[in-house]
Amino acid sequence: MSLVTLQEILKLHDGAVGAFSTYDLFTAQGIVQGAEEAGFPVILMIGSGPLNKPGNDYVGQLMVQLAKEASVPVCVFLDHAKDYKTNLKAMKLGFSCVMIDGSHLALEENIAITNKVTEAAKLLGISIEAELGALAGVEDGEEVKNAKMTDPAHVEEFLSKTSVDALAVSIGNAHGFYKGEPKLDFARLKAIAEIAKDVPLVLHGGTGLTFEQFARGVQLGIKKINIGTEVKKTFIGAFIETHEKNVSAYDMVEIPQVCKNAVAKMAKEKLEFFAKGWKELV
Ligand code: 13P
Repeated sequence: MSLVTLQEILKLHDGAVGAFSTYDLFTAQGIVQGAEEAGFPVILMIGSGPLNKPGNDYVGQLMVQLAKEASVPVCVFLDHAKDYKTNLKAMKLGFSCVMIDGSHLALEENIAITNKVTEAAKLLGISIEAELGALAGVEDGEEVKNAKMTDPAHVEEFLSKTSVDALAVSIGNAHGFYKGEPKLDFARLKAIAEIAKDVPLVLHGGTGLTFEQFARGVQLGIKKINIGTEVKKTFIGAFIETHEKNVSAYDMVEIPQVCKNAVAKMAKEKLEFFAKGWKELV
C-alpha cells in the first residue's frame, strides 16, 4: 500500500513534491511510472472539472488503485474543487487529499467553506489544501495580477481560523501558458512563509516557470508544485508526432504507450529537480 496523505508525503524529503494533473489511464500511469523511475514520491491530481465528466469516477478509482500498487508513496489529490459535493465525491472514491478552492470568495466565506470541507476530511483521515489569493489568468495585466495576489495580512487570520495541511498562494503564478516571461513576487512569498511557519505552501501554475524560479520558491518554503498544462502538451505532442509517422495505422495500441512514456520522462525530470536538483541553483 503506497497511498499516502498530503500531510505525510510533504514530510518525506526536504524539497518540493511534484503534483501532476491526470486525465485518463495513460496520463495517470505515466506519472506514476515517472515517479517510480525517479524513486521519489508523487502527487497524482485530477481537477474538479475532469472528475465530474460523465464516467470519470472510473479515472478516480484507477488513480487510487495505481497509488496502492505503486512502489513509491503516492497522494491522490482532488484539484480546485469549489463545491462541497465534489469534495465529498473524491473522499468517497478514496482520495487521500482534497482541495477546497474558496479563493474567489471573501476571506470570511473562504474560511467557512474551508472549515466545512476540513471537518469531513479529517473525520476520514484525509488531508486538505486551501487557497488564498486568486491565481491571475495569463491574460490579466500587472494591475489585476497584483490585486489578486495573496495578501500576507490575510494569511495569519486564515491559518489561525482553519486547520489545513497546505496553502496555495498567488504570487504572480498563473494556470496555462504564460504570455511573455512569468514574474514571481518572491518578497511576497518570503513574507507569507514567515507567517505560515509550519504550514507547507503550494505553487500552482508550474508550466512555463524556469528552474531558477522553482529553486528559489522551494528555498523560500514551497513544498508542492503543480504541473498541468505540461502534462497535456507532452501527451498530445507525442500523440501527434507518432501518429504523423504512419497516419494510416491509427495505432491505438502503440501511440498511447509512447505518450505514457513521454509523460513519465517529463514527470521524472521534474520530480528529481523539485526533490534534489534545486539545491544546486540556490
Ligand atoms: P499549469 O497548467 O499552469 O501547469 O497549472 C497546473 C495547476 O496549477 C493545477 O492546479
